[in-house]
Amino acid sequence: MINYQQLRMTSWGVLVALPMLVSAQSATTQRVDFGQQEFQSRCAACHGRDGKGNGPIADLLRKSPPDLTLLSRSNGGIFPMSRVYDSIIGDDVKAHGSRDMPVWGQVYRLRAGEHYADTYYDPEAYVRIRVLAVVEYINRLQVANRP
Ligand code: HEC
Repeated sequence: MINYQQLRMTSWGVLVALPMLVSAQSATTQRVDFGQQEFQSRCAACHGRDGKGNGPIADLLRKSPPDLTLLSRSNGGIFPMSRVYDSIIGDDVKAHGSRDMPVWGQVYRLRAGEHYADTYYDPEAYVRIRVLAVVEYINRLQVANRP
């Protein structure tokens, strides 16, 4: 026999508990936005928190940092993925003389060395993961300026 009284109580219990479960779930699954974190801590000083090139130290540079939210727009609506990736890595800097932007490939390579001092690791994979996370974040900055 079904105990309707008990069933009703159980349904109420579920209804009351559900929102609590959902909010507990969203609190624990909050995503860490690695690209955004990296951009805000390493790039925003020059490129600005919004990526538009107006960071607090931008005026001290010989060359103004470009507006990173317009990269797709000025490239026919297509995000110039490889160019952005290469300019962040900066491995070809010697070929193009000095530049104001730090060479992030080297910065990340050094950091990987400090981080994995005694363990085997693939330094290029470490660099690539970090740079790709930032590139993906810069790609997201294009959305508002889609032609
Ligand atoms: C010290 C200031 C400074 C910091 C910090 C900095 N940039 Fe730059 N960035 C520049 C300048 C200036 C340029 C223009 C090229 C040049 O002279 O180096 C530039 C150019 C770029 C470009 C080339 C845009 C294009 O048109 O292809 C990208 C992409 C970029 N920066 C991304 C980043 C990212 C990502 C970070 C953080 C990991 C960062 N920058 C940190 C100053 C900076």
